[in-house]
Amino acid sequence: MRLFFLFLSMDIFLQAETLLKEANDAVISNADELEKFRIRFLGSKNVLKDVFGQIANVPKEKKKEFGQLVNSVKQAAEGKYTSSKESFSDSSKEQKDIPDLTLPGDVVNTGARHPIQLVRNRIIDIFKRLGFSVEEDREIEDDWHNFTALNMPEDHPARDMQDTFFVHCNPDIVLRTHTSSVQVRVMEKQKPPIRILSPGRVFRNETISARSHCFFHQVEGLYIDENVSFADLLQTLDFFAKELFGKDIKIKVRPSYFPFTEPSAEVDVTCFICGGKGCNVCKYSGWVEILGCGMVDPKVLENCNIDPKKYSGFAFGMGVERITMLKYQVKDIRLLSENDTRFLDQFKAAM
Ligand code: PHE
Repeated sequence: MRLFFLFLSMDIFLQAETLLKEANDAVISNADELEKFRIRFLGSKNVLKDVFGQIANVPKEKKKEFGQLVNSVKQAAEGKYTSSKESFSDSSKEQKDIPDLTLPGDVVNTGARHPIQLVRNRIIDIFKRLGFSVEEDREIEDDWHNFTALNMPEDHPARDMQDTFFVHCNPDIVLRTHTSSVQVRVMEKQKPPIRILSPGRVFRNETISARSHCFFHQVEGLYIDENVSFADLLQTLDFFAKELFGKDIKIKVRPSYFPFTEPSAEVDVTCFICGGKGCNVCKYSGWVEILGCGMVDPKVLENCNIDPKKYSGFAFGMGVERITMLKYQVKDIRLLSENDTRFLDQFKAAM
């Protein structure tokens, strides 16, 4: 009988120790497994109850030891349960960090083309359809290409028309005052027919105000071939004005003076704001000035080694800021170079 008790109690001890090992070694990797573990070790009908229920069979002197063993199984099971549960709630916290894909996305600010760039490109596109190609060149020019070749020798009063920035006080090196300098460079190296546009930034030593700036952008054009006439110039500019401002637009040509063209003219278009009725943009005249033009002076052709008896040509030049201000009714030229995104964002949908 004693032996029997001994065997039985050994068996119970063994059972309890096996459970202790099981509880300690358990690897719980999801909520299902955790629940199964809980039912087995901590539920209302848990395995420990079965084992503990047999304490009556344990010899008296072993009872305390047995009780402690079962208790340690319980503690191990509770410890495992809580630590596993915590690790799950940690990962569920991580799950909360996963973005909610049903929420509306963040707005990405895409930026927009600068209005000067928009208008410049629009002008170029129109003339490209007439066969003009784009030529660009340096902003720092020598006196010959900016002035002298264009029939403005030293001390010529016409130089005062464009107040000049000199580089390092060297009278021979200037910041170009117009992109006609590019036209000179093209005429020097190419034989007619020449049909080019010269867009670019130009500089004039003027007081900065709402109406004028010390730098701005131009697009100038040049067409040289045999028998190019003033009528060709008018036809070209009429087409351009209608393409840029609308079919109902008319042009008006007023005589003017430029040293490098003869005859010279300034071109107005019907005010596209009021349709010619008169408003504050056209100063109630019904017309707005958009460009200067003329037939290339034979002297300029000669300066560039083009025979004026064989060839003739026309040239025109316009300020991109001026046209942009008219088209979008921008009241202050400085807005076009300050890069305030609140101003620039308004052009996102333009053109
Ligand atoms: N170069 C002139 C200017 O900057 C514009 C112009 C170009 C006028 C070609 C006539 C012919 O004011």
